[in-house]
Amino acid sequence: MGAISIADKKSPRSKPISSGSDDFTSWSTRLGIVLLFILACRWLDSIKDRWYVFNPTSLHELAQAAIEASPNSTSGMIEHIVANLTATYPSTQIALNTDAGEWVFNNAGGAMGAMYIIHASITEYLIIFGTPLGTEGHTGLHTADDYFNILVGEQWAFAPGSLEMERYPAGSVHYLPRGTAKQYKMHKGCFALEYARGWIPLMLPFGLADTITSTLDVPTFFRTSVITGREMFRNLWVGKI
Ligand SMILES: *[C@@H]1O[C@H](CO)[C@@H](O)[C@H](O)[C@H]1NC(C)=O
Ligand SMILES: *[C@@H]1O[C@H](CO)[C@@H](O)[C@H](O)[C@H]1NC(C)=O
Repeated sequence: MGAISIADKKSPRSKPISSGSDDFTSWSTRLGIVLLFILACRWLDSIKDRWYVFNPTSLHELAQAAIEASPNSTSGMIEHIVANLTATYPSTQIALNTDAGEWVFNNAGGAMGAMYIIHASITEYLIIFGTPLGTEGHTGLHTADDYFNILVGEQWAFAPGSLEMERYPAGSVHYLPRGTAKQYKMHKGCFALEYARGWIPLMLPFGLADTITSTLDVPTFFRTSVITGREMFRNLWVGKI
């Protein structure tokens, strides 16, 4: 038996000798493509700043001005923010979604709230996110820098190793650099103007995973995808990457 099986294994070896060098060529082609892809990604990552339109400092000032202009009305703050942005940035430079009634649920990292997408493009997004009920979860580990400008309420956060919580009251900004994650809590309800800059499409799986694996809220999934896709397209249309 043993001898027969050895002989059987030997027979398929009658392949042409050139197959070894063919394998080598196709593997070096694949390796070359992967290396080129990595280099292209690194290059794109080094020049992504040129596509940014918003800046974190002005948005923080705008959030503070919105709180000052209507301290007791979240919708007043949102109106103030959208009116200011549409007056500041021409529609030929950036597309903004001015329909402040377009809210969708957002389940991500175990937290739940609602969001209104003011802007979404390949390298930036600007949303109002929050809930009047309070929520708690994982921030997500992102390929973008995140600036969470608190408008109403308070956000708490902590990273492993820290035994005290960080507190972010209204008017402050919680900056989360890309590649870092925290546990956060909007204890008694909170609304924020969230600005992210970096590679936005890579953040979308985190933003939709809870809906696919847990809530199975298909209309929300559909609406979120449609709004995000529409806004990214509207921006590409005016040349905003
Ligand atoms: C927008 O808000 C900023 C910050 O409050 C302010 O400096 C700027 O003048 C405002 N622009 C307009 C057009 O209202
Ligand atoms: C906001 O509410 C506080 C407390 O209820 C009140 O003292 C203040 O006058 C209100 N401010 C405005 C601008 O309505």
